[in-house]
Amino acid sequence: MPPPTRSLACLLLLLLAAVRASDAGPLAVEIVRPSFTATSYEYIDTGGAFLQSRNGAFSAAVFNPGKQQASFYLAVLHAPSGTPVWSANRDAPTGSSGKVQLSAGGIAVSDTNGTVLWSTPPLRSPIAALRLLDTGDLQLLDAGNATLWRSFENATDTLLPGQQLLAGASLSSAKGPTDFSQGDYRLGVITSDVLLTWQGSTYWRLSNDVRAFKDRNAAVASMSVNASGLFALGADGAVVFRVGLPPAEFRMLRLGSDGRLRITSFAHLNSSAPVGSDFISPAGDCELPLQCPSLGLCSAGGNGSTCTCPPLFAASVTVPGSCTPGDGSTLASPAACQNNSGGGGSVSYIALKQPIAYFATKFDAPTNTGVNRTACRALCTASCACLGFFHDNATLTCRLLGGKQLGSLYTGTSDTNLGYIKTFSSATKAGSNQPGSSSANHTVPIVLPSVAAFLLLSVLAWYLWWRSRMSKNGKKKKGKNSTMKVYMGRQKSPTRDTGYNADADADDDDDEIVIPGMPTRFSYQEITTMTSNFATKVGSGGFGSVYKGELPGGEGLIAVKKLEAVGVHAKREFCTEITIIGNIRHPTLVRLRGFCAEGSRRLLVYEYMNRGSLDRSLFGRTGPALEWGERMEVAIGAARGLAYLHTGCEQKIVHCDVKPENILLANGGQVKISDFGLAKLMSREQSALFTTMRGTRGYLAPEWISNAAISDRADVYSFGMVLLELIHGRKNRGEQEALNNNVAVAVASVEHSDWPSGWSSAMTSTASGTSGGGGDEYFPMVALELHEQGRYLDLVDARLEGRVDEAEAARAVRAALCCLHEDPALRPSMAAVVRILEGTVPPPEPRVEALGFLRLYGRSHPLPQPGSLTAMAGTTGSAAGSVSSTAGGGSHLDVPSQDTSGER
Ligand SMILES: *[C@@H]1O[C@H](CO)[C@@H](O)[C@H](O)[C@H]1NC(C)=O
Ligand SMILES: *[C@@H]1O[C@H](CO)[C@@H](O)[C@H](O)[C@H]1NC(C)=O
Ligand SMILES: *[C@@H]1O[C@H](CO)[C@@H](O)[C@H](O)[C@H]1NC(C)=O
Ligand SMILES: *[C@@H]1O[C@H](CO)[C@@H](O)[C@H](O)[C@H]1NC(C)=O
Ligand SMILES: *[C@@H]1O[C@H](CO)[C@@H](O)[C@H](O)[C@H]1NC(C)=O
Ligand SMILES: *[C@@H]1O[C@H](CO)[C@@H](O)[C@H](O)[C@H]1NC(C)=O
Ligand SMILES: *[C@@H]1O[C@H](CO)[C@@H](O)[C@H](O)[C@H]1NC(C)=O
Ligand SMILES: *[C@@H]1O[C@H](CO)[C@@H](O)[C@H](O)[C@H]1NC(C)=O
Repeated sequence: MPPPTRSLACLLLLLLAAVRASDAGPLAVEIVRPSFTATSYEYIDTGGAFLQSRNGAFSAAVFNPGKQQASFYLAVLHAPSGTPVWSANRDAPTGSSGKVQLSAGGIAVSDTNGTVLWSTPPLRSPIAALRLLDTGDLQLLDAGNATLWRSFENATDTLLPGQQLLAGASLSSAKGPTDFSQGDYRLGVITSDVLLTWQGSTYWRLSNDVRAFKDRNAAVASMSVNASGLFALGADGAVVFRVGLPPAEFRMLRLGSDGRLRITSFAHLNSSAPVGSDFISPAGDCELPLQCPSLGLCSAGGNGSTCTCPPLFAASVTVPGSCTPGDGSTLASPAACQNNSGGGGSVSYIALKQPIAYFATKFDAPTNTGVNRTACRALCTASCACLGFFHDNATLTCRLLGGKQLGSLYTGTSDTNLGYIKTFSSATKAGSNQPGSSSANHTVPIVLPSVAAFLLLSVLAWYLWWRSRMSKNGKKKKGKNSTMKVYMGRQKSPTRDTGYNADADADDDDDEIVIPGMPTRFSYQEITTMTSNFATKVGSGGFGSVYKGELPGGEGLIAVKKLEAVGVHAKREFCTEITIIGNIRHPTLVRLRGFCAEGSRRLLVYEYMNRGSLDRSLFGRTGPALEWGERMEVAIGAARGLAYLHTGCEQKIVHCDVKPENILLANGGQVKISDFGLAKLMSREQSALFTTMRGTRGYLAPEWISNAAISDRADVYSFGMVLLELIHGRKNRGEQEALNNNVAVAVASVEHSDWPSGWSSAMTSTASGTSGGGGDEYFPMVALELHEQGRYLDLVDARLEGRVDEAEAARAVRAALCCLHEDPALRPSMAAVVRILEGTVPPPEPRVEALGFLRLYGRSHPLPQPGSLTAMAGTTGSAAGSVSSTAGGGSHLDVPSQDTSGER
């Protein structure tokens, strides 16, 4: 870092420290009086808390959930666990410099420029105090201590002991753990019951729950939770429904963003972690309205659920995971129906096979009874709000389905209740006033940019290939004596010098290839059957989509990877490669069970890992955060897998695509590396391009882009990045919108002196296109800076709330930084990393001078380089013809050759 920048940064830090020291407000206890103002900056040391209850169990804060720095809420927190139990401005969050003001007129939350986003309603007398009670109730009092307003009367998604939810009122779920705005789930109290609803359709009733007892027949007036359980009470305070729970000093009831109602119990009011969830409803995944995306058919499995599309429906291309009619018609929606007014003839219905049921049919009262199916159908056709209907021909009940969209389906038990999904047939649509508008509108904006991006990247790929050829012509290195005798692509063919590789499969497209030790070969038809026609997509890796399936005869679950980004290699070469990969077996590597090579189709069949890839557990904000111990087990497991690839096999394998998506987890603490060996099916440019296209540039070692040799140390670099993300629990490059968009653009762009010019700007646009750009500070840079200050615990995921071993954290951060050394030779081997993480050798000292580029990545702005852009433009004309040859496999990533580009 140049000295002027560094001193400027120091100055800024000093200023910031000074501001903090002078402005920091003291944490008030129980009461604050007008006029009072709080901002998150003033209370940064207490996490935004400005008022504490007398017992210390609750605090009122300007709260920034998940430290995302974009949305701040006036909230009441259960202080020991940091759980928000109420929020004021949930639908109108303020920014980091937003204000909470207490005046004689009430509380107001305003944004940076003073616009009021939320305020208490007009009150009958002036306010003398804001008081936070020991129960967590936030109250506004007048001069005589009378309560003018209280947060307990306006619950958000949580109910505390002592708080009542009155009949007619409801709790609304938050959209997500860091977005408190109202989601689609409600917990409502009605005079006869307590209900969970989604977009107006019921999916749970207290009266239907086996744990609930009805004490007497009386109207319900309120609901509450206390140390002995959950109660629905009559107007006289006597119990109507009760759910007895084991005694706990403190518990809270919350409607989660996933639609589940949970009652969590704490041993003491001051406990930081719950002893457990005593009560979760609905318990089963498939009982949730949207466990699968719209119209997905949810099937409960042993461990969790899977989603498929019902017969006659196919996976949607535009809305991943949801299902659309397989006949090309479109699902009805209220908006499309109104536009189509009077066009009753275009409506048709797709019948669901029995016994497929909809979540709401179990709980919602029928819309109509005593009608035949024809009449029920006519009711639905006549209503724009109707998206489909269920008719039971045994009881003659008719239920119309409504809402903004349809939720998920499940396999029920009734064989007389038959569902029909309303659609607009495409034929009549074309005849309506806006012919074909909907489908055209859907595809064009998606296809055009991606075609453009693809062309741009192809040109770049060709340019890089051309460039590397030019540079190698002068000083043609010899590939080191390669222990691997398998060549992918056509390096040895006479066409190699022209770079053309026409008709790859022509000479050996024969299905009789047999190589000793080759894994099971499946036909495409067999794989289609095993995956139920690719019904359940469980992920998309760097090389293509992954589908869940089952081997015939109950031989276990499988994950089938459809290779997409791989050049069409000759079949024999593909089989040879697969044979090598299939014979690499280690407890830390995902096992290849078989493959399929038919025509141009290439599929790989792997063992199934039921917890999915690490990114889901690590970055997913729905489940509990991975505990520190688990994270270290994942780190060590993944490091062992890579070490085995680098040193344990006959031939050294460089993975080339180490990232959380390629680290898979299964029950019992299993950690395995996937996708190893696949890089060899791609050229270097393809590999770099596809990883950047998929937004994973963050894991690519600098040498990938600077055209230097790729060795196993490139994997070490990527592992270092993954290790930092494990420590932090977030992407190294934040995904939130920055407070300031300019910052986002600057952060997302990277300029590196010896990277081919033109790369960085192209990558910037790709990265911001696929991963939403940057936002937070570049975490590796922060890690470097806090390492210099010895503040390791500050780097650890805040969700762990300090449940972390400091020595391990220091060890992990140091190991990660050593992995990131810019010079590959200075990075430790994977085997060494394993020993460091295990603690059998002391952690090494990261070399700060070899990490300076992190600050550059984190801070610098891209400068367009006119020369390079002209050069690229000049080559565009001839590029189109050559792209396929580059992509078709003119190169290979040979190992352990030091210079993978030497072949070209
Ligand atoms: C207030 O700030 C917001 C951004 O926080 C901005 O969009 C808006 O234009 C500003 N309003 C005024 C009146 O300055
Ligand atoms: C209001 O309550 C506070 C503390 O609870 C007490 O000190 C004060 O005397 C009360 N004021 C009146 C007018 O009752
Ligand atoms: C909370 O207050 C808002 C207005 O401030 C009101 O619309 C809403 O119904 C209230 N919620 C409850 C549960 O009383
Ligand atoms: C909880 O509330 C119910 C209903 O009001 C009451 O019967 C019970 O005694 C309460 N339990 C405790 C521990 O306060
Ligand atoms: C929490 O409260 C319990 C009593 O309710 C007390 O025994 C314990 O010491 C408290 N713990 C802390 C950390 O304050
Ligand atoms: C489900 O999980 C249990 C333990 O959590 C395990 O024993 C069982 O094998 C798992 N079943 C499947 C199908 O993965
Ligand atoms: C259905 O009921 C309507 C009257 O509600 C009647 O006109 C019609 O014939 C019935 N259709 C069938 C198939 O029974
Ligand atoms: C109800 O419908 C099912 C399937 O369409 C049919 O098999 C059954 O006979 C019908 N029952 C009555 C009472 O119409």
